[in-house]
Amino acid sequence: MKLKTIYVCTSCAYQSQKWLGKCPNCEQWNSFTEDVMEKESVRAHKSVKSLEPTPLSQAKQIRARIVTKMEEIDRVLGSGLVHGSLTLLSGEPGIGKSTLTLQICNALAIQGKKVFYFSGEESEEQIALRARRLNITSENIHIISENNVETIIATIQDKKPDFVIIDSIQVVSSEEVPSIAGSVTQVRLCAEQIMQTIKKLNIPTFLIGHVTKDGTLAGPRLLEHLVDTVLYLEGERYQNLRLLRGMKNRFGSTNEVGVFEMQEKGLIEVTNPSKLFLEGRAENAIGSVITCVIEGSRPLLVEVQALTTTTVFGYPKRSATGFNLNRLQMIIAVLQEHGKLNLLNQDIFVNVVGGIKIDEPAADLAIALAIASAFKKKFVPAHTLAFGEIGLSGELRHVTQGDKRFKEAHKLGFTSLITPKETKTVKEALQI
Ligand code: TYD
Ligand code: MG
Repeated sequence: MKLKTIYVCTSCAYQSQKWLGKCPNCEQWNSFTEDVMEKESVRAHKSVKSLEPTPLSQAKQIRARIVTKMEEIDRVLGSGLVHGSLTLLSGEPGIGKSTLTLQICNALAIQGKKVFYFSGEESEEQIALRARRLNITSENIHIISENNVETIIATIQDKKPDFVIIDSIQVVSSEEVPSIAGSVTQVRLCAEQIMQTIKKLNIPTFLIGHVTKDGTLAGPRLLEHLVDTVLYLEGERYQNLRLLRGMKNRFGSTNEVGVFEMQEKGLIEVTNPSKLFLEGRAENAIGSVITCVIEGSRPLLVEVQALTTTTVFGYPKRSATGFNLNRLQMIIAVLQEHGKLNLLNQDIFVNVVGGIKIDEPAADLAIALAIASAFKKKFVPAHTLAFGEIGLSGELRHVTQGDKRFKEAHKLGFTSLITPKETKTVKEALQI
């Protein structure tokens, strides 16, 4: 095999013959790493066979999905695992990926499925220790401490398990490629080889992948294009809360979120998230309103707080943390003119809890309600969530992805929604 060196952008997988400081494709700085690639080999010209197309009506019947019976997991996957599907489970180190997958293994093993857990990161003892902690005793889970992709594939082909976990894809490497494990080529090539194997044998498989601090998969985003489903496990500001989100799903919606709590005995499914969510915050607090914003492609519930105090000296002070100050001034003007609140002699402070930065107009209404609540010293009931853009004539305007926000609000237990759907003006909203 002839090899040549190329340079690959780690954020978008753009390839270049020479090293570049800035990626011409995604404009990221310092993102190129050295990589090796097989030179276009002079393959013998094999005769290529033509294929017989299948009429759609005669295409094979889809087999029923494998239900893990872990409600949150099945929901995020889209009512269960699809035969032969490849799923990438990503998340920061230590967030609980190995714990969650071991629990999924157990859920399938107790249904009589033969599960193979390939671990290149931890020893068999370490996994056994975790299993003991999680009270997992099933005979159907098999641990294989291996990170050579050829051995992994041979084992799968030989033993034909019902479910496979690779923990993690970044430590798996192939003998055929000289670059180190975790490099762009290794990760891509190993994932491709595993995919070919499991697709042929129709075995649902999970690849675990670590993400770097900025939220991208260590290595290229290429894996995300390759796999059928990308799940992301993340921690919320309540330390034990874990959210499992579908970032991509060829077999279901990506709006679903699975909620878990990390406890002594592993991740426990949270069936009533609103209870947990509201635990951390003071019930019926004055000046506090929950809103739903879209972060990237993901809906996120955040708490906005406001405080108003009478200006003691000179010009009233307005301050915003996590929100645009100009936008805040505009909202205050609308409350003044259309909401008939006299805020001229009020210092106003607005804060988005949890260090989150909102730059969507969808949060306008929640900010306005928080200010009104603080000013009137009247709380907004706990299960209320508000979103909507405020216009200069005091009207409430529709925001994009309303459905996603409704879904997330319902998922997290908010029953009373104030949105442009039924409320048309700020004045009306202030009456609620
Ligand atoms: P782990 O699944 O090893 O994370 P990852 O594979 O994503 O790196 O989980 C690591 C953390 O979870 C560790 O800090 C300990 C904690 N944990 C619990 O709190 N309870 C448990 O039952 C288990 C197994 C782990
Ligand atoms: Mg792990």
